[in-house]
Amino acid sequence: MNNALRVVVGSDEAGYEYKQRIKTDLQSDSRVSEVIDVDADRDTNYPTVAIQAAEMIARGAADRAILICGTGLGVAIAANKVKGVRAATAHDSYSVERSVLSNNAQILCMGQRVIGIELARKLVHEWLGYTFDAASPSNAKIGEINSYEAH
Ligand code: RB5
Repeated sequence: MNNALRVVVGSDEAGYEYKQRIKTDLQSDSRVSEVIDVDADRDTNYPTVAIQAAEMIARGAADRAILICGTGLGVAIAANKVKGVRAATAHDSYSVERSVLSNNAQILCMGQRVIGIELARKLVHEWLGYTFDAASPSNAKIGEINSYEAH
């Protein structure tokens, strides 16, 4: 499929089972060209995994990432330290949609201790269907973030 996405997946111990299940879903989704798992082992702490994934996005080695920890918070905080990366924690359909269409977030973060696996899988399925529109009014707001980051 044209424009198929290279998607990184990663988790710490608290998100490992969801990451594994979502990875399997992504591997059979025609909208995904490649799935890259950054978990060296399941005991790696969330900051290491999140920063590794975010750096792949920042250097253009991947298009998007799904990061899972206990809450989805730690991975987002860590990933957002990487320049040029926007990671959002979202556990509902509307927020997942807006994370892409309003915020152009490349990374979706979720918590294995927060939502059920079927909702998490459904949200990932929806998330793959959204593409940021660079002609939208949201782009100027992303530009403000980028300007701050650049100074
Ligand atoms: C476990 O280390 C837990 O604190 C972590 O997975 C995450 O929820 C942190 O934000």
